[in-house]
Amino acid sequence: MQLLQNKVKEEGIVLSGQVLKVDSFLNHQMDPVLMKEVGKEFTRLFKEANVTRVLTIESSGIAPGIMTALEMEVPLIFARKQKSLTLREDIFVEKVYSFTKQETNEITVAKKFIKPGDKVLIVDDFLANGEAAFGLARIVEQAGAEVAGIGIVIEKAFQPGGRLLAEAGYRVESLVRIASLDDGVVTFA
Ligand code: G4P
Ligand code: NA
Ligand code: NA
Repeated sequence: MQLLQNKVKEEGIVLSGQVLKVDSFLNHQMDPVLMKEVGKEFTRLFKEANVTRVLTIESSGIAPGIMTALEMEVPLIFARKQKSLTLREDIFVEKVYSFTKQETNEITVAKKFIKPGDKVLIVDDFLANGEAAFGLARIVEQAGAEVAGIGIVIEKAFQPGGRLLAEAGYRVESLVRIASLDDGVVTFA
């Protein structure tokens, strides 16, 4: 997606540890016009998938997620992150380990919001190692529903998430793919 690639080129800042800071349009301040285009693009890409729900994870997935859900005219669900949890009957729980943050979160979704027969599009802001996307996919599968696909705003293609998700059989569509952040420079795939 050219518009998004231009934005990354103009406003993205490469931090140490292979992290791209995009807090002027995605992770802190958000650009609603750009997010609207993101929603339209995911809708175009997954038009044939008959999506019934969009699923993301708080907090930065919510903006691209809601714009996609708006365009598709389906509900958005965002998984909640919690440190640790007492066992409950009415929620799906999965553990997600973050290599970037070196911490494990439990992510939860209320069972009443995903049902067998649902076709769920997973949306997230970043794809690195794929841990968050795999955790969301496991929740969809716990619910007896189907993963319709995975829509990513920015994929760091030098990390293994995209390949691992594809090998697991998921259709992954990333709007921008970054091949490298070496020497502080963003190189697109
Ligand atoms: P993974 O799910 O693909 O394995 O990614 P990882 O655990 O490494 O990512 C942990 C958090 O860091 C996620 O946000 C993810 O979006 C974010 N992240 C990973 N790489 C980058 C990057 O290069 N730039 C930016 N800006 N973020 C990155 P989170 O903890 O869920 O936080 P939130 O912002 O959604 O609240
Ligand atoms: Na995220
Ligand atoms: Na994030």
